[in-house]
Amino acid sequence: MKVYLDNSSTTRPRDEAIDEVISMMKYEYGNPSSLHRMGLEAERKIESSRKNIADFLKCNKSEIFFTSGGTESNNIAIQGLINKNIKRGNHIITSKFEHSSVLKVLKHYENKGLKITYLDLNAHGMIDLEQLKEIINENTILVSIMMVNNEIGTVLPIESISQIVKQKNKDTNLHVDGIQAFGKIETDVKKLKVDTFSFSSHKVHGPKGVGGLYVKKDIALEPISFGGSQENGLRSGTENVPGIVGFGKSIQILKETYDKEIQHIKEVKNYFLTNLKSNIEGIKINSLQDDRCAPHILNISFIGVRGEVLLHYLEDKGVYVSTASACSSHGKKKSHVLEAIGLSDAEIEGAIRFSFSHYNTIEEIDYAIEILKESVIDIRKITMR
Ligand SMILES: Cc1ncc(COP(=O)(O)O)c(C=O)c1O
Repeated sequence: MKVYLDNSSTTRPRDEAIDEVISMMKYEYGNPSSLHRMGLEAERKIESSRKNIADFLKCNKSEIFFTSGGTESNNIAIQGLINKNIKRGNHIITSKFEHSSVLKVLKHYENKGLKITYLDLNAHGMIDLEQLKEIINENTILVSIMMVNNEIGTVLPIESISQIVKQKNKDTNLHVDGIQAFGKIETDVKKLKVDTFSFSSHKVHGPKGVGGLYVKKDIALEPISFGGSQENGLRSGTENVPGIVGFGKSIQILKETYDKEIQHIKEVKNYFLTNLKSNIEGIKINSLQDDRCAPHILNISFIGVRGEVLLHYLEDKGVYVSTASACSSHGKKKSHVLEAIGLSDAEIEGAIRFSFSHYNTIEEIDYAIEILKESVIDIRKITMR
C-alpha cells in the first residue's frame, strides 16, 4: 500500500488539472503575447484562471499576479516592497519561524545594512502581539509574517496583526506568506486586510512551477526582474500557460468541494492522532490540537528515535512523511522552527511532520499507524541496546 502523508511538501494534482495541462500543451500552445487567435485564446485562458483565483481570495482579478511559485511570490513581494520604500525607512519585522524564502531574502537585506527584527514565538508557535506593537516604529517599512507555519501548522492571527500594524504606522506594508493557508483555512484577503499575500499551486492539487501573489490595489512594488512586461510589468517572462490553467482548474474545483474536503482532512487527522496516542508511547505532540492549527498538519516527536531513520523505515513500507519542511530538509541543519518554539534537541531530532489531504482514506491511516508502531518499536530496540 502507498500512503502519502507529505501534503505540506506537495500534493497529488487533481486529474482535471492534469487534463487541462495536457490539453494546453498539446493543442493550445499559443503565446499569450501574440496578437493572433492562438495567442488571444491562451490569454483568455489565463484570465479565466485569474478570475477563479481572485474569486477564491475574494479580491479583484487585477490584484492577482501569476509567478513561478511560492518562493518567487515571496521574493517579488518582499524585495519589491523594500526596494520601493527604502527611502522612507530601514526597519523590517518578521518572525523566527518563517520559510527560507522569506528569511533568506531578509538576511540578504540585513547584510546590506537594513535592520531586521525577528519576533519570538511561544511553545505553540504564536507571536506576542504586544511585542509586535512595541517594536513597530516610524522607520518600519514592512512586516512579513506567515499565515500558517509549514512545520507545525500554527495559524497566526493575521487580522489582529494587520490591525496593530496599521494602527501603529499606516505606511507600514504587511506581506503574508499564505502558502500553507491557501485552500486550507479562510483566506479572504480583504477581511484579513493584508497588502500582499503569496500562494502556490502545487500545495493545492495543482501543477508545480506556478503560484501567485495578491497585491492590494494601489500598493506599489518595484519589479525585481525586467523583460517583456508580462503580468503588468511585475513578473516579466512568457507565462507558464499550462501551469496557470491547471492551477485555475484545481481552484475552480476546490471552490465547489472546499467544505467537504476540509471536513474529510479533519476527520482523517483526528483519526490518525487518536490511534497514534493509543498505540505508541513516548510521543510529544508539537502541533496545537484545535482550530489554531491548520487542518492538514500534525507534527509529532518520537522520543528516542531519529526522525530521519524513522522516515526511511516508513518509506520502505510505502508510507511517505517529512522530517523538517521538505523545501529545506536536504540541509542537515536542525529545524529552525522547532528550535524557535523551544523544543529540546531530542524532541527536534525525533520530529516527523504528517500532512494530510482529502485523498487519504481511513484504511490508509490504519495501515500507516500499524507501520509506524512496528517501526518505532524496532528502532527503539536497536538504539536502546
Ligand atoms: C510556508 C511556505 N512558504 C513558501 C514555500 C515555497 O513555495 P514553493 O514550493 O511554491 O516555492 C513553502 C513550500 O513548502 C512553504 O511551505
